[in-house]
Amino acid sequence: MFKRIPGTKDILPDEIIRWQEIERVSRKIFSLYNYKEIRTPFIEEAALYDRSLGETTEIVQKQMFLIKKEKDTYALRPEGTASIVRAYIENNLEKLHGFEKFYYIGAMFRMERPQKGRLRQFHHIGCETIGSKDPDADVEIICLADHLLKALGIKGYKITVNSLGCVKDKQELSSFLKDKLGKKLDSLCDDCKRRFDRNILRILDCKNEQCKKIVKDLNIRNDHLCPECRGTFDKIQERLNTIGIGYEVFPYLVRGLDYYTGTVFEIKHPDLGPQQDALGAGGRYDSLVKELGGPDTGATGFALGVERLLLASFAREEKPQPELIFVISLDEESRSNGINLLNRLRQAGIASDTSYCKRSLKAAMRRANDSNARGVIIIGEDELKKNVVTFKEMTSGKQNEFTEDELIKHLKT
Ligand code: HAM
Repeated sequence: MFKRIPGTKDILPDEIIRWQEIERVSRKIFSLYNYKEIRTPFIEEAALYDRSLGETTEIVQKQMFLIKKEKDTYALRPEGTASIVRAYIENNLEKLHGFEKFYYIGAMFRMERPQKGRLRQFHHIGCETIGSKDPDADVEIICLADHLLKALGIKGYKITVNSLGCVKDKQELSSFLKDKLGKKLDSLCDDCKRRFDRNILRILDCKNEQCKKIVKDLNIRNDHLCPECRGTFDKIQERLNTIGIGYEVFPYLVRGLDYYTGTVFEIKHPDLGPQQDALGAGGRYDSLVKELGGPDTGATGFALGVERLLLASFAREEKPQPELIFVISLDEESRSNGINLLNRLRQAGIASDTSYCKRSLKAAMRRANDSNARGVIIIGEDELKKNVVTFKEMTSGKQNEFTEDELIKHLKT
């Protein structure tokens, strides 16, 4: 017996309805904001991620699925942003259109320790705007994320925002932390001891209680921001206030990917548990396009984790409208008419099915019920004689005879 790899999931048809609903609503909201879908490959050169996410980040250090082939090393994409920036540059989109707004829905891969809300193959719904440093684009993506969650009926989430500032500001904050935390290194957890040399900003959002206490005492208040970055961050908050987006500023919010500068944000939900409480996250990455060989231009975006959206309480748990028509042939003679009618229904655009297991009428009715059918068509000896079919509506239980043509007309109205 083969089993699925830990941290992967089979999404069975019963569950797929909610996935399709999330995807349908997301596409609708993205198009309201004029974002266009982009699909990039699942595999990229591993070096793309080393360069963009940062060689010292946990994803690059520990979580990439690598495929080595002769001299080349490929990686299964751990996230979407790097590939989209690569595609923007490679396809000369800067010269064609300049500013672009993309959205994407698809699988990502990270070699993590599997647990609730943390998988090795998971799915992102995300968007990226590339080609502008305008902070109003940050406002747009935060509004868009909020709109999307509301449209999905998700309640009780919290948006936290912060500004990491420009590259110089980030360096300033890192030096400050080196200075302050250097004296407390022995009291930090093992992960943070490693982070101290590799990625010191990450110590700020460590979940270990002892580390949390140490960083809290540092009393960080965005003092590292230069006047320009502080002004930009104030402006973003002003706009969010005017629009009426609920958010909190959290100066300890840093992100696990090196490419961020300026605005960063995270959306948390209490139903996800303390370890994996982020429904999604994003922010600005103004250095990345240039870093990957493109023009000196800005970019910002976010990604939501679909599995985590599903875990968060889903207020709009509605059953889809029944559409299916189920054809039941009572014997071998009526079977030929049944199969022919099934084909006619489908050609006429009416969703329909039949049972391919030899079953009693009762069992076939149960199957129709389980399929959430709108109605059943019954064909037996009597119907064949009269050249009609019997149609039964599932909700009302009303039953009438129709010729095939009449019934198709009736079902189409
Ligand atoms: P991220 O924070 O690494 O950001 O991932 C975004 C979201 O994906 C997380 O908040 C979480 O909901 C979900 N997620 C991440 N890892 C897993 C996992 N192992 N299992 C289940 N869900 C997971 C990014 O990936 C950035 N590319 C977001 C972004 C776009 N920033 C700018 N543009």
